[in-house]
Amino acid sequence: MVGPPLSPEEPTPFSAHERRDETPVIGTRFLSKNTQLTNFLTAPNTDDLFTELARLISERGVVFFPSQEINVSQMKQVMYRLGEQGGRPRTSGLHKHPISEDSSELGAEVSIISSEGGILKADYYSGGRSSSGWHSDITFEKVPSDYSMLKIHTLPEVGGDTLWASGYDAYDRLSPAMQKFLEGLTAVHNADFFNHYASKHGIPIQPLRGSPENVGEDLTAIHPVIRTHPLTGYKTLFVNRNFTTKIVELSKDESDALLDFLFRHISENHVLQVRYRWERNDIAIWDNRATFHTATIDYSETRVGDRVVGIGERPYYDPASKGRRETLGLADARTLKA
Ligand SMILES: [Fe+2]
Repeated sequence: MVGPPLSPEEPTPFSAHERRDETPVIGTRFLSKNTQLTNFLTAPNTDDLFTELARLISERGVVFFPSQEINVSQMKQVMYRLGEQGGRPRTSGLHKHPISEDSSELGAEVSIISSEGGILKADYYSGGRSSSGWHSDITFEKVPSDYSMLKIHTLPEVGGDTLWASGYDAYDRLSPAMQKFLEGLTAVHNADFFNHYASKHGIPIQPLRGSPENVGEDLTAIHPVIRTHPLTGYKTLFVNRNFTTKIVELSKDESDALLDFLFRHISENHVLQVRYRWERNDIAIWDNRATFHTATIDYSETRVGDRVVGIGERPYYDPASKGRRETLGLADARTLKA
């Protein structure tokens, strides 16, 4: 034997659950159907499992679980526990969508994502290129989301994939001069289209939406353009095409041009994206603070899923924070050769 024996790798609560990364920067998939989220709820080390899961999702942006046997009540429990162990404020809970109704079959804390209605009935995908749908969930709220969970239970044979993009890598791929310019700027996020939908159809806007600060009918918030992630400490780009309407400190023309550049920086950089092909009852959980996502409307059959959205904390920017690549000592994204 040469030298001392290697010390065994430190076991973690996830050691028994095989997984693989889908790309270098975003997306991790659990490989076995034996990894069931419902078991995390009842395991003796449940706190450790949810703490590690929160860290994994925040590091990797989105995590996929194949073939989950879980009902909507258990989905809500998982999302509640994930938020708790992820360190969200005690005042935050699960989001109620502005146009979801308490009387709905599943309750207002579950949104039906459906090709035939649900919250997409407000029709905010207004046509045009498929890349026009990139967003993070509910950034119009004063206290927006930490994590979202989606389970697709009805789907076409092929089609209906979902794509996610990394906000960490979107930040890392900007030039130092652009990073510096954006840091400290703030942007308006707005969802007036839900108000228009509600008044047109005579339904009330959900008055209390997962935080004491997410109240009333004004679906507008101002957030930092670059925010610091509270768990990982990384800087991430935090504007999206569906909800971000203006950079506060710039003129309208300047803001329009810069936002268009940033939206295209996300949608045209497939190097920072992952695409997931769903199987029935798969679950994805993603971090809305550090990712963007979009649907693929390339099918005509019925596609239906249930979504639960957690509420996190008020976004903030910490000037002492660093980008993901700098923190991890990885190669500079701007100098990587093809
Ligand atoms: Fe979404």
